[in-house]
Amino acid sequence: MDNPFVPTAGSTPPELIGRKGLLDEFSYGMRIGSGAPGLLTIFTGARGIGKTVMLSEAEDLAREAGWAVISETATQGFMGRMGESMRRLANELGDTTPGRRVTSVSAAGFSITTALPPAEQVGWRNTGGQLLRLLDAQGTGLIITVDEIHATDRTEISQLAASVQHFIREGLPIGLVFAGLPSAVSDLLNEGVATFLRRADRIDLHAAAVRDVEKSYTKLFAEGGFDLSSAVVHAAAEATAGYPFLIQLVGYFLWREAELNPVLTDAAAEAAIEHAQKRNTRVVIQAALSTASGRDLDFLKAMSRDEGDSATRDIASRMGASSSVVGNQRARLIDAGIVEPAGHGVVRYAIPGLREYLRSLPQ
Ligand SMILES: Nc1ncnc2c1ncn2[C@@H]1O[C@H](COP(=O)(O)OP(=O)(O)OP(=O)(O)O)[C@@H](O)[C@H]1O
Ligand SMILES: [Mg+2]
Repeated sequence: MDNPFVPTAGSTPPELIGRKGLLDEFSYGMRIGSGAPGLLTIFTGARGIGKTVMLSEAEDLAREAGWAVISETATQGFMGRMGESMRRLANELGDTTPGRRVTSVSAAGFSITTALPPAEQVGWRNTGGQLLRLLDAQGTGLIITVDEIHATDRTEISQLAASVQHFIREGLPIGLVFAGLPSAVSDLLNEGVATFLRRADRIDLHAAAVRDVEKSYTKLFAEGGFDLSSAVVHAAAEATAGYPFLIQLVGYFLWREAELNPVLTDAAAEAAIEHAQKRNTRVVIQAALSTASGRDLDFLKAMSRDEGDSATRDIASRMGASSSVVGNQRARLIDAGIVEPAGHGVVRYAIPGLREYLRSLPQ
């Protein structure tokens, strides 16, 4: 058996840990059809927490239910690309259904480098409407997923939201599943660009429970024919803190080590865990911090003096800043998925290893 772990962004893990039931409402929505609450879902969470994987899960469920799927990343021009996909789908469907050949869908092309100009928005809606009516006639519908909604300007998102709202009003079977960092989603919902998205089911993804990671490791390593001591499995699971990207990294390096020496010593296991943590630091932490301002970094460093959760009051006094300034920073860092609230006036790091990393920086 090959190494089953996939420490790669967006790859479906060998076991989806701690996500049971999260897509039930979505599946149910496809059964009810147009306007069902579960058909508007937004996944948010820190980097590497498993947002993209949840979009893939939703897409798989949709295909199993016979629904058409359009999967996009919110880079510039995604509305145009989506329009092209809809047209292709409508043509395919129209061709294979005798007597319902669609000929009018292929009018003008869509702009695929910018937001849609007004005339193209009309064409987009016509194409979408045609596709949705064809799918509706088959008793299915269309699921659109958009990943990384923090990566785009608001214009295209609001164009998409407005069109989807329009389709829902017409009773057409469409579902929208978004994923993005908490900041992007909060802004989107608060700025009023797409007020109708406030109705969406917002699902905040968190780390899995360590004991579930332990169970999963035990099972997967046993399937691979490795006999790891429960102490090693426990230490490895603990080291992940239930954080999905680390679950894959630690599992991956542990597996490699076990392939080399099937009776895994504690020292070898420790080395594998350390290797995984280093990789995590490089990939996740540095990416997350690349958007933090100097003041944000000071805030995060001030937190690193605590062994556990940090009181905002303490952070303010360490930084010599007013509590309102620190309060704003706190909100921004929470939205960016770098820290998370841990009770009233208390925060903690949302990314494991962040404390150790910050402590290693010049203070
Ligand atoms: N529930 C889970 N159980 C185990 N591993 C998971 C789970 N969810 C995701 N993973 C793994 O975690 C890693 C990150 O997943 P994913 O790329 O979906 O995260 P993300 O939130 O989209 O990250 P980013 O913000 O960087 O886009 C992948 O290696 C994936 O296989
Ligand atoms: Mg992702």
